[in-house]
Amino acid sequence: MTSNTLNALCRTEFPLEQDLIHLNHAAVGPWPMRAVNAVKRFAEENMYQGSQNYLNWLKTENQLRLRLRQLINAASVNEIALSKNTSEALSIVAYGIRWQSGDEVVISNQEFPSNRIVWESLQAKFGVIVKVADLSNDDPEAAIIDCLSSRTRIVSVSSVQYGTGLKLDLNRLGNEIKSRDILFCVDAIQSVGATPLDVQRDQIDFLMADGHKWMLGPEGLALLYVKKEVQDRLELNQYGWHMVKDRGNFDRHDWEPVDSAVRFECGSPNMLATHALNESVGLLLEIGMDQIETLIKGKIRKLQEHLQALKDIEIITNLEDNRLAGILTFRSRQIDSRLLFEELQSHNILCAARGGGIRFSPHFYTPDEKLAAACEKLATACEKQKSISG
Ligand SMILES: Cc1ncc(COP(=O)(O)O)c(C=O)c1O
Repeated sequence: MTSNTLNALCRTEFPLEQDLIHLNHAAVGPWPMRAVNAVKRFAEENMYQGSQNYLNWLKTENQLRLRLRQLINAASVNEIALSKNTSEALSIVAYGIRWQSGDEVVISNQEFPSNRIVWESLQAKFGVIVKVADLSNDDPEAAIIDCLSSRTRIVSVSSVQYGTGLKLDLNRLGNEIKSRDILFCVDAIQSVGATPLDVQRDQIDFLMADGHKWMLGPEGLALLYVKKEVQDRLELNQYGWHMVKDRGNFDRHDWEPVDSAVRFECGSPNMLATHALNESVGLLLEIGMDQIETLIKGKIRKLQEHLQALKDIEIITNLEDNRLAGILTFRSRQIDSRLLFEELQSHNILCAARGGGIRFSPHFYTPDEKLAAACEKLATACEKQKSISG
C-alpha cells in the first residue's frame, strides 16, 4: 500500500480526539471506523429484523475464522476456535491435558498473571510442578530451554512480554521443544495484529490472543489455535450444543465432539464482537502484517530517539531489532514511575505503568507528531515532578 493511501486510510479509520495521545495498544486498542459501523449495522439489523438473517451472521463468523487463520498461518480453518478471552483459552489448554503427579510446566518470570495462575492452579490439584525461566539474561530462550527435562509436558510463554516488551524467538523455541516431544503453547496477545506469526513454521501447538489489543477489536472475543494433531489429546471440560458433529439436530440424542477446534466452543457465539473483530482484522490484512510490523517498529524507533534525548530517562525494553514488537517501556532515574504515569494521564496520554516503568505502545497508524508530543509532555512532567520534590 502506498504511503498516501495508507495515510488517508489511517485518518478515516482512526478519528481519535485531537488532544488524545493513544499509546496503549498493549492494554486496550481503539476500534477502527469500519468496526464501529459494523456494530451499528448489526445492532440496527437486530432491532428491525431480529435474527431473520442468521445465516449471514454465520458467514461473517466464518470469514473471521478464515482471517484469523491467515493472520497466524494456521494450516486449516479447522484449527481455529473462538473463545471468550486469552485466560479462558489458556484454561482450556491447561485443564485439557491429562496430568500425572510430577509432570512439569515451563513458563517465564515475566508472564502476565493469566499465563502463570492457571499453571500454578494445577499444583494442588494434580501435583504438577511449575518451573519458571528467568528471562532477564542475554539469552532468554536458553533460560527456557535450560528448564526442560524428561518430565516437561508443556512450555507456555508469551511471544512478547507484556511488561518489558521482550520478543521471544519462537522458531528457536519451537525447534528445541518439539525435538523433545513437548507441547508448545504461546500466549500471543501482545503479537497478533502487531507482528506476523507463523504457527506452522514455529511448530506451535496452542496459541491464544484476545482481540482487544493489537487486533483493534472489542474485549471478550479471542482466537484460540489448536493444531489438528493435538486436538484429541485435549480433554474437553465444557459441553453444549455447539461443539458436536451434528450441530443443529436437536432431536438426536447420541453425540460426538466435532473434528475441529470448534469442539472447544460449547454454546452460542459472541456475534456482536464477531462483527466488529471481523472488520478490524480485515483492515490489518488489507494493509498486510509485514507492513504493519515495519510501521510499528518505525514508531518504536522514533520514540526511542525522543526518549534518549531526555537525559533522565532510561529505556527498559531490549532494543535489539529482533527483540522489539510494539512495546517500549522506560523509567525516570529520579522520579517514581507511578507519579510520572499519573502526570502523563492527566495530559491525555494513554499509556500504562508496567514492567517497572511506563509502557508506551503505539500502533501502525499513530501519527509521528503524537509520539513527539507525548515525549515533550513527558519532559515537562519530569521537570514538574523534580521541582515539586526538590
Ligand atoms: C500477555 C497477556 N496475556 C493475557 C492477558 C489477559 O488477556 P485476557 O483478558 O484476554 O484474558 C494480557 C492482558 O493484558 C496480557 O498482556
